[in-house]
Amino acid sequence: MGIMTRDCQGWCSLQLKKAMKKQNIAPVCFGYRHIIGRIKYAPEVSVENADVLKDLKAVITRPIARGSIEEIMFRMNLLHKLERSGMLIINPPLSIERAVDKYYSLTLLDENNIPVPRTAVTESHDEALKCFKELGEDVVLKPVFGSRGIGATRISDPEVAIRVFRTISFYHGVLYQQEFIPHGSSDIRAFVIGDKVIASMQRFSPTWKTNVSCGAKPVSLNLSTELQKLAVKAAKIIGCKIAGVDLMEGPKGPVVLEINSQPGWSGLQSVTKVNIADEIISYILSELKA
Ligand SMILES: Nc1ncnc2c1ncn2[C@@H]1O[C@H](COP(=O)(O)OP(=O)(O)O)[C@@H](O)[C@H]1O
Ligand SMILES: [Mg+2]
Repeated sequence: MGIMTRDCQGWCSLQLKKAMKKQNIAPVCFGYRHIIGRIKYAPEVSVENADVLKDLKAVITRPIARGSIEEIMFRMNLLHKLERSGMLIINPPLSIERAVDKYYSLTLLDENNIPVPRTAVTESHDEALKCFKELGEDVVLKPVFGSRGIGATRISDPEVAIRVFRTISFYHGVLYQQEFIPHGSSDIRAFVIGDKVIASMQRFSPTWKTNVSCGAKPVSLNLSTELQKLAVKAAKIIGCKIAGVDLMEGPKGPVVLEINSQPGWSGLQSVTKVNIADEIISYILSELKA
């Protein structure tokens, strides 16, 4: 089994390697920089001394990481190539492409009747200002490709909105804004593997951003069956076999905020008895047998 990651010594990678060893699986942990794709001569995909298509049965993708458009496209197309060659890729590349793009994923969720916040996306600062008013002049503006809460900004002042929209559109950014959901500084993370929520937590934050990386504290949570079903359904729509589903209890009921296709789990692991890495490896083994 391979782990494709930027950081082979990262906490999640080490957990996965430990879980593989318990099952007598030899882990091959490799970074994107070591991969070679060949056309018309063998091996078609190699990494260090491994012939990926011969030596590995499955590859776990950890964060695709930041990079230029060419680097990211190459990594994704390589995953597609591996998948076309019959390898099990967790998560499948298409699901990663859907999940990392906030507009792509939210439209898919909405089309499939998953409750999501009202959202507007445009390239123009003038149009964005109209949307700001439509959304009640209290919005969260986010990068379309973002994570860990970086760059997400709450705006409730029209003058600030104009300045920020103009600046972002000047640099050819896309203006993705969402109505602010009053959530009382907490949200829910459900960790989905296959058809199950294997663990979940509530995150309590000192600010409106509830990412653990922004200082939120995880607390163990027994998720209701209804929300478990919602999380599993949402992950399935995106195509993720493993997903960190973020949910919020808003005044009009629960909403799905996003599906993380490359979720970390150190925060969640600290408040659950389930060994998450073991669950991931057992799931992959069962998929390989299926
Ligand atoms: N519409 C919203 N209303 C209220 N809080 C939000 C909203 N959108 C995001 N947040 C807060 O900001 C955090 C980061 O937003 P999110 O959409 O999850 O992006 P990221 O990919 O950066 O985690 C969320 O965990 C949540 O606490
Ligand atoms: Mg998030």
